[in-house]
Amino acid sequence: MQTVLASVDDFAPAAPSAAPLPGHGNANVIRVGLVGCGAFARFSMDRYRRLPGVTIRAVADIDPAAAQRAAVELGATVLAPEAISAASEIDLVYIATPPAMHFQQARAALEAGKHVLAEKPLATTVADAEALQSLAARHGRLCVANLVERYNPLADAVKSVIESRLLGELVHGLFVNEAADEGLEPSHWFWNREISGGIFVEHGVHFFDLVAYWLGQGQVVAAARSMRPVDAARDTAAPTVEEQVMCTCRYARPMTGDRPVVATPHAGVLFHFEHGFHQCSRMDRQEMRLVFERGEIRLFDWVPTHGTLRGLVDDAAGATLAGMLPDSDVTLIDCYDGAARHARGRFRSFDAAALVEISFSVGKDKLGIYGDVVRDLAADQITWIRDRLHRRRLTEADSVATVALACAADRMAMEAR
Ligand SMILES: NC(=O)c1ccc[n+]([C@@H]2O[C@H](COP(=O)([O-])OP(=O)(O)OC[C@H]3O[C@@H](n4cnc5c(N)ncnc54)[C@H](O)[C@@H]3O)[C@@H](O)[C@H]2O)c1
Repeated sequence: MQTVLASVDDFAPAAPSAAPLPGHGNANVIRVGLVGCGAFARFSMDRYRRLPGVTIRAVADIDPAAAQRAAVELGATVLAPEAISAASEIDLVYIATPPAMHFQQARAALEAGKHVLAEKPLATTVADAEALQSLAARHGRLCVANLVERYNPLADAVKSVIESRLLGELVHGLFVNEAADEGLEPSHWFWNREISGGIFVEHGVHFFDLVAYWLGQGQVVAAARSMRPVDAARDTAAPTVEEQVMCTCRYARPMTGDRPVVATPHAGVLFHFEHGFHQCSRMDRQEMRLVFERGEIRLFDWVPTHGTLRGLVDDAAGATLAGMLPDSDVTLIDCYDGAARHARGRFRSFDAAALVEISFSVGKDKLGIYGDVVRDLAADQITWIRDRLHRRRLTEADSVATVALACAADRMAMEAR
């Protein structure tokens, strides 16, 4: 959803190439049909059309002007939305309509034997998402949501740090998303829960999926939301605006190092997610914190571009951690000798040779890395269409699981006082 927050020009495709679209007439070429030619589709399609062996054949939108503009930009044919699924020359339908339309459009495409790459969320209810997963399995077709976060190199870097335990166990996490609503007028579908599914479902799915990539599936233990106050004098026509949601999820972590842990009722890593849409675009900001026994990682931007790791390390761990993080730069904050190397926490002793801060970066700005993850997700899924032995980073089950967590959080937030 964040894309509507930036200027539409940020997502405008590069000028269309004068060269013919690649792969016409080649049986190995994946022919894409686009349904929904809005802001984010323009951004994604500009990445998809540069993938080898991919061609954009047809576009559809209920707004004829949007469809026409996309057709010109992409060198594609305009069809009616229903005709995209029926068209024999389409292999993959990319659905970039608002969330409530995804289920029916994905179902129609799957029933017509197409592969589906849907914008997130896959669907706005768990039952619908599961029905799509079953249908895809029955037809042997792809049906995933565009959950790009796990395609960021920083997702892998953080996963390596967690699994290395060089900072000890992960204790808890926090994601604070102070998002802009400058591009979201009161009439925008984002504020309409019937269409968007609410903030957890429309937007939170990205971050539930990222944390699931690190920690497995979580369980919602608390949730709440807050509505924007209505100024009776000025906002007589204001819609009911859910502008802030938050929830806490628990992730089971059955082992600590190589030692089994006694399962207690409240064991596990607590992760808090907070999303608010109330900032101007220039103040849009996000921070994720992962707190370990001996340090923490902070990631910045909603598709993370950079971050810092700060922690107590022994002689070898500082360099090893720096090697796990891209474009890293180590600052020695403090060194310890003799008895000062002895540290304790959580009833355990450890050796601390130094306190270090490591900065790291993907080496690109937000739109640069965003374009890369959109491209890499599509490339990964298209490889699977061609080779079913290919192991995808994101599956149908992941796409369903994140809807399930989002719907559970939404339900709990709606019920909370
Ligand atoms: N993966 C990501 O990082 C990411 C980022 C932003 C948005 N999104 C998702 O992309 C989707 C679209 O978001 P957007 O910001 O581009 O919205 P948008 O409003 O700019 O575009 C939606 C388009 O769909 C068209 N449309 C609506 N109903 C239709 C129908 N029944 N048939 C055909 N076309 C229809 C609209 O006319 C519009 O052109 C949403 O699901 C959103 O959550 C994903």
